[in-house]
Amino acid sequence: KKVVLAYSGGLDTSVIAKWITETYKCEVVTFTADLGQGEEVEPARAKAKALGIKEIYIEDLREEFVRDFVFPMFRANAIYEGEYLLGTSIARPLIAKRLIEIANETGADAISHGATGKGNDQVRFELGAYALKPGVKVIAPWREWDLTSRETLMDYCAKHDIPVDFNKAGKKSPYSMDANLLHISYESGILEDPWTEAEEEMWRWSVSPEAAPDQATYIELSYLTGDIVAIDDQAMTPAEVLTYLNKVGGDNGIGRLDLVENRYVGMKARGCYETPGGTIMMRAHRAIESITLDREVAHLKDSLMPKYAELIYNGYWWSPERQLLQKMIDASQEPVNGTVRLKLYKGNVTVVGRKSDDSLFDEKMATMEDDAGAYNQKDAEGFIKLNALRLKIAAAKGRSPL
Ligand code: ARG
Ligand code: SIN
Repeated sequence: KKVVLAYSGGLDTSVIAKWITETYKCEVVTFTADLGQGEEVEPARAKAKALGIKEIYIEDLREEFVRDFVFPMFRANAIYEGEYLLGTSIARPLIAKRLIEIANETGADAISHGATGKGNDQVRFELGAYALKPGVKVIAPWREWDLTSRETLMDYCAKHDIPVDFNKAGKKSPYSMDANLLHISYESGILEDPWTEAEEEMWRWSVSPEAAPDQATYIELSYLTGDIVAIDDQAMTPAEVLTYLNKVGGDNGIGRLDLVENRYVGMKARGCYETPGGTIMMRAHRAIESITLDREVAHLKDSLMPKYAELIYNGYWWSPERQLLQKMIDASQEPVNGTVRLKLYKGNVTVVGRKSDDSLFDEKMATMEDDAGAYNQKDAEGFIKLNALRLKIAAAKGRSPL
C-alpha cells in the first residue's frame, strides 16, 4: 500500500517513483539524504512534488554517517581486497536504516531503491532492510521493468511528463557515480575496459599528484579512543574532520584509486575512487595504534580485519557477526589516544611523528645506547634457543629443508 523510496532527485529514481505509482497503484514516500555527496538535496523536494509525492523526507545525515558508520569502520582499519576503502559500502546500511524507520513512521510496508540487479548495492540495501524489519517488502524496479535501454527510459519520461533534465545541472556524466563524505566513485563508461586509463577530467575531488603544490602541507590529528577529535589543536565534529581532510587531501593529490574488485554477486568490476580524507585517516590511525596498542592485540585486530571489511562490502553491517566484531574493535581502542603528525605531498601521506600519554613505546628498551640495565641481552639467548627447539629436532630427524 505504501512504499518508501531512496530518492536522489535524479532521473532514474524519478522514473522509479512514477513507475511504482503506476505499476503497484500505491503511494510513494521519498527519502533523500545529505551524506556529503556535495550536491544540494533541497531541490529534491520540488521534484518529488512535481511527481505527485505527498510525503517527502529530506535529511542531513552527515554527522550520523561519519560518527556511527565511517569512524567505527576506521577503528578497524578496514580495507576490501587490499585497496578499496568501502566508501559506498558503508553508506548503504545508514540509508537502509532510515528507509525502515521512515516506513515504520509512515505505515509503509515496502521499500524501494534504484540499484541495479548486477551490483552490490541492492544486496546491501535489502540485507539491511530485512535485518531491521523482517516482514518488509522490497521493490527493485531495475530487476523488474523493461526500461533497460536509454531509449525506452526516455519514452517513458515523455509519456509521463518527467523532465529529462532532472539529472544534475547541465550534461549527464558518462560514469555511474556515487558520492558521500567518505568518497566519490566512478564506474562503467570507458572504465569498463580495465586497460583504459581514466581521463584526467573524470576526477572531481582531487588535483593530480603532478599538479599538486611543490610545498608540503603538515597536519596534526588528535585521537581519543580511536577517533579523530581535533586537527591542529582545533576541536572538530566527525563530519567536520572528514570535510577538512577531504579538502586538504584533495588539494595535495591524495586518495585516487583505480582498481578491479570482486562484487558479491560474482563478477569483477573496475572502479575509480577518490577518498582523500579516508586515505589520510587510514595512515594516521595505524600510526597512533602503532604506539598505543599491544603487539598481539594489534595483530589479532589485523587478522580479523579482512573478514570485517568483507562483511561491510557484502552488506552485512546489521548482522550479529559484524556487531560482535565491532565490540571487540571498539574495546581495543580505549588506549588509542594521542597525536599524529603527517606530511602531505603530491599524492603521498607520510607519518613524520606520533605521541601519546598512553604510549607503550619505551625509549630505554629500544635504544642502541646504554640502557642502564633495562633490558638484559643475555635473556635473548635462551629465548632464541627454546624457539629453535622444534626446528632443531626436525632437522636432527632428517627433516632439514636443505
Ligand atoms: N563498487 C563500489 C562498491 O560496491 C561502488 C559502487 C558504486 N555504486 C553506485 N551506485 N554507483 O561499493
Ligand atoms: C549498481 O549496480 O546499482 C551500482 C553498482 C553496485 O551496486 O555494485
